[in-house]
Amino acid sequence: MSNQAKYDNPFKATLNGVLDLFKKQIPIGKLHNDERLDGKTCMVTGANSGLGYAVAVQMAQRGAHVIMACRSGIPNAGEQAKSDSGSNNIEMMSVDLSDLESIDRFVEQLKIKNITIDICVFNAAVVPSGSHKTQSGFDQMFLVNYLSTFKLANALINNAIINKNVGNAPRIIFVSSESHRTNQEINFDNFGIYEEYTMSKVIALYGYYKLMLTTFAIELSKRINTSDVQISVFALCPGPVNSNIAKAAPKIFMPLLKFIFKIFFKDPKDAAEPVIYLACSKSLQNKTGLYLHLMQEKSVDIKALNPENGRKLWEASENLIKNY
Ligand SMILES: NC(=O)c1ccc[n+]([C@@H]2O[C@H](COP(=O)([O-])OP(=O)(O)OC[C@H]3O[C@@H](n4cnc5c(N)ncnc54)[C@H](OP(=O)(O)O)[C@@H]3O)[C@@H](O)[C@H]2O)c1
Repeated sequence: MSNQAKYDNPFKATLNGVLDLFKKQIPIGKLHNDERLDGKTCMVTGANSGLGYAVAVQMAQRGAHVIMACRSGIPNAGEQAKSDSGSNNIEMMSVDLSDLESIDRFVEQLKIKNITIDICVFNAAVVPSGSHKTQSGFDQMFLVNYLSTFKLANALINNAIINKNVGNAPRIIFVSSESHRTNQEINFDNFGIYEEYTMSKVIALYGYYKLMLTTFAIELSKRINTSDVQISVFALCPGPVNSNIAKAAPKIFMPLLKFIFKIFFKDPKDAAEPVIYLACSKSLQNKTGLYLHLMQEKSVDIKALNPENGRKLWEASENLIKNY
C-alpha cells in the first residue's frame, strides 16, 4: 500500500497506527532514572491535554521547571499537573497557535519574565472537522500544525530564549507523525493559500502538514548546526495515543472512536516515552537530526530530507509571516 493510501482517511490511518504497535521494534535505548532535568526549563505546547500533558507531568517529575504553553485549561490543567507530578515547579502560559499575534504576545511575556528554555517540545496540533479560516486569512490546521510552530521556534531562537550552546546544546523536539510519509510533494504554488475542505480531506491534509513540520525540523537542524551542534533538533511519532485528538470527529462516530482509542491506542503516559527519551537521554547530548517512531530510530521521509524542499519551505514560510 502506498504511504498516501495508508494515511488518507481516518479508518486506514487508525488501522495502520495500531498495526505499527505490533511490529517488531529495535528501541534506541532505555532512559535511566538518574537522567533528570533538574535546573532545566522545559516548555511544552498543547500541554493541557493528551500527550503534551503527560510529557509536562513527567518532565516535572524529573525535576524540570515546566512551562505549559496552552490556549485552554488555564489554570486547571496546571493545578492537576502539579498534583499528578508532586511538583509545584509548573506554570501555565497562554498562547493560541491559530493566532499569529498571540505568538508575539507569548514571546513578549517570556522576555518580560526573563525565561530561557533548555528543552522545547512543539506538541500542539489539531484535527478539525474541516477548513476554518482564521482572522489572519490562513487555515486553522495549517497554522496550528505547521506555520505557527515555524514562527514560534524562530522567535524563541532569535530572541535568545533558546540559547545556542556548544557542549551543552538545548533541545527542540517536534511531535510529528508517521503520516508525514504522504506521497504528496509540498506544493509551493498554493503554499498558505486558504482553500475550503471537508472532513474527507482532513486526514490527508494532516499528514501533509506533518510533512511540512518534519521538513522544517530537518532544515532547522541544518541551518543552526553548520559545524558543531548548537541546538539539538529532534522529531518523533508517538504512535497512536488515546487522547482528545479526534474530538472534532462527527458525533455519530464518537462512541466507536472512543472504544477503539481506549482498547488499542496507547495511554498518553506510555506514549510520552520517546518524547521524554529525546528530552533527557545523556546519550543524545550534542546529537541532532534524529527521528523516532515509537522508540525506534528511523529515517524521515525522503521528501523531508530533500535540501531543496527544506530551503523552499523555509523561504515560503518566512515570506508568509513577513507579508502577513
Ligand atoms: N493521538 C494520536 O494518535 C497521535 C498520533 C501521532 C501523532 N500525534 C501527535 O501528538 C501531538 C499531541 O496530540 P494528542 O494526541 O495528545 O491530542 P490532544 O489531546 O488533542 O492534544 C492536542 C493539544 O494541542 C492543543 N491545541 C490545539 N489547537 C491549539 C491552538 N490553536 N493553540 C494552542 N494549542 C492548541 C490542544 O489544546 P485544546 O485542548 O485547547 O484544544 C491540546 O492541548 C500532536 O502533535 C499530534 O499530531 C498524535
